[in-house]
Amino acid sequence: LLDQTVPTSTEDRRRYLNSVAKAAERMDRLLSDLLELARLEARTDGLERERLDLAALARNCVERFAPAFAQKGLALHFGATPGAAWVQADGHRLEQVLDNLLGNALVHARGTDTDPERGQVDVNVFAGEGRVELVVEDDGPGIDSADLPHVFDRFFRGDRARSAPGSGLGLAIAREIVQRHGGTISAQQRTPRGVRFVVDLPAAI
Ligand SMILES: Nc1ncnc2c1ncn2[C@@H]1O[C@H](COP(=O)(O)OP(=O)(O)O)[C@@H](O)[C@H]1O
Ligand SMILES: [Mg+2]
Repeated sequence: LLDQTVPTSTEDRRRYLNSVAKAAERMDRLLSDLLELARLEARTDGLERERLDLAALARNCVERFAPAFAQKGLALHFGATPGAAWVQADGHRLEQVLDNLLGNALVHARGTDTDPERGQVDVNVFAGEGRVELVVEDDGPGIDSADLPHVFDRFFRGDRARSAPGSGLGLAIAREIVQRHGGTISAQQRTPRGVRFVVDLPAAI
């Protein structure tokens, strides 16, 4: 495009610019993920905690993602135990955790599977004894058991995920956020297939 001596059609130019724009977007995502993780690890910005209902927050995120899931032919369901699931937390940060988990489900859950019977993603919030649990599960190809311990590592990307967009930082960011709230996040293989992410947070008193 820069070399004026090379003739390019409008169509060519559009195509080239399109891939330049895509690359810039990828770079932008990678940079903001890196900065986010660096900021979290440096603890320069503290959590802005307030008493909030994790069930309401999760329901909101699910509603926000619903159109994108519908467009991919994936079913997205939300469930919660009756009543509020109070946590003392930074709502914006927890939203980021959910965005990462739902974003992953959206991108990775389907895999190469075109089986119309599959493609179910479930988000559930359970308020229990002193704990609040958030579960995000899908019935996609899942994660190889050898990879499972590494999914929360920085830059880890599964073989199957290589072609999908992403920096491999989403789950590292999610773990950092959850741990800073005094909680845990884990990934399990589901039977017969799929993956289950469980976020466990202390309930607000
Ligand atoms: N729902 C899922 N199903 C299958 N694999 C997943 C799922 N969520 C995450 N993964 C695996 O974990 C890796 C790390 O996820 P993440 O940190 O969000 O990075 P990214 O999404 O940028 O690849 C992914 O590359 C993928 O291999
Ligand atoms: Mg991701």
